[in-house]
Amino acid sequence: MNLLVTGGAGFIGSNFIFYEREQHPEDRIVCLDALTYAGNLSTLASVLDQPGFRFVKTDIRDRAAVFSLFEEEKFDIVVNFAAESHVDRSIENPGIFLETNILGTANLMDACRKYGVGRFHQVSTDEVYGDLPLDRPDLFFTEETPIHTSSPYSSSKAAADLLALAYYRTFDLPVSVSRCSNNYGPYQFPEKLIPLMIANSLADKSLPVYGTGENVRDWLYVEDHCKAIDLIMREGRVGEVYNIGGHNEMANIDIVKIILKELGKPESLITFVTDRKGHDMRYAIDPAKIHRELGWLPETMFADGIRKTIRWYLDNQEWWKTIVSGEYQQYYEKMYGNR
Ligand code: NAD
Ligand code: TYD
Repeated sequence: MNLLVTGGAGFIGSNFIFYEREQHPEDRIVCLDALTYAGNLSTLASVLDQPGFRFVKTDIRDRAAVFSLFEEEKFDIVVNFAAESHVDRSIENPGIFLETNILGTANLMDACRKYGVGRFHQVSTDEVYGDLPLDRPDLFFTEETPIHTSSPYSSSKAAADLLALAYYRTFDLPVSVSRCSNNYGPYQFPEKLIPLMIANSLADKSLPVYGTGENVRDWLYVEDHCKAIDLIMREGRVGEVYNIGGHNEMANIDIVKIILKELGKPESLITFVTDRKGHDMRYAIDPAKIHRELGWLPETMFADGIRKTIRWYLDNQEWWKTIVSGEYQQYYEKMYGNR
C-alpha cells in the first residue's frame, strides 16, 4: 500500500505517521508538507531515513506540484491533514484558510480523480457543527447535526468537508470524512490551549484564559484519533462521515488548573483575558456510529493522557523552546499583548 499523508509534519499528522509505521510497517508512506510555521521537520526525525518513508516539501495550493507528485507515486490512499488549524489566526487573517483548507483540498481530490486513488480521507473537525449551549448537557453532535460554523477556520473546514462529500456524489470519488473533537498529546504546536498553558506554567508566565474559562471542549488523546482514522480509511464505508470523540468534556479553566497542579505552580498565574470573537461555547461528540460500525473506542483516559502529555513537554523542551523563540514571539505579542 502506498499512502500519502499531507500535513504530516504537524501535530496530528506526525502522530499518525508514527502510528502507521508501527501498525503497518509493510506500507510505504509519503509525507507531503509545506512546512509552514506549524510544520516541523525535526518532528519526523525518527522516520526520515527509514526505508518506505519519503518526505516531500510541497504546498497543497500548488496544483501543478501536487499533480506531478501523484503522477510519480500512484497512491492507494490519501489522508489529508494539511490545513491552517488555529481559530485565532483565522480571525486575524481568513484568506490563507480559504486557500489551503478549501482550494488545497480541491487540488488533492482532483489529483485523486485523475490518478484513480482508491480512497481520499478528509480529516475534518467537530467545529463544523458550531457549538452547543452549556445548559443542555443532553445534546451531542451526531453526523446528522446541521453544519453551522462560527469562525473562518471552521467555515473553511466545513467547505472542504462538504466538497469531499460532493466529490463522492458527483464524481464517485471514494471519499470518507471524519469529524473529531479537540486533540491533545505530544508535538502539538504551543499556540494551542494545552501546550501553551504547559509552556507558560514552566516559564512562570501568566496563563491567558479567554472570557470566563467556562467554554467546554471534548478532549481526545491524539493516538486515539490516529487509530480511528486508520480504521476509517481501511474499513470505513465510502461516502460516509464518522464522528470521533471520547465523551470527555472539560471546561477550559479546569484543564488549566489540572496543568498547574501537575506542575506544582500557583493558580495566581491564571489571567482572564478578553474573549475570542465568536467563541464557541461547547463541543460534544456522539461517537456511536464509529463504535457500532468499526468497533472504535478511545483507549486513553484523560487523567493518564494529560500526565503523559505534560511529561512529554518536560522531556522535550528543546522541541518547543525552539518554536517559542523567534517569529512566535511576535505572534504572541500581537495576540496577547493588549488583551
Ligand atoms: P497543525 O497546524 O499542527 O499541522 C498542520 C500541518 O499542515 C503543518 O505541518 C503544516 O506545515 C501543514 N500545512 C499547512 N498548510 C499547508 C499547505 N498549504 N500545504 C501543505 N502543508 C500545509 O494541525 P493539527 O492540529 O495537526 O491538525 C491536523 C488536521 O486535523 C487539520 O486538518 C485540522 O483541521 C484537523 N483537526 C485538528 C484537531 C485538533 O484538535 N488539533 C481536531 C480535529 C481536526
Ligand atoms: P484551542 O486550543 O485554540 O482549540 P479550539 O479553539 O480549536 O477549540 O482552544 C481551546 C479552548 O481554549 C478554546 O475554548 C479557546 C481557549 N483558549 C484560551 O482560553 N486561551 C488561550 O490562550 C488559547 C490558545 C485558547
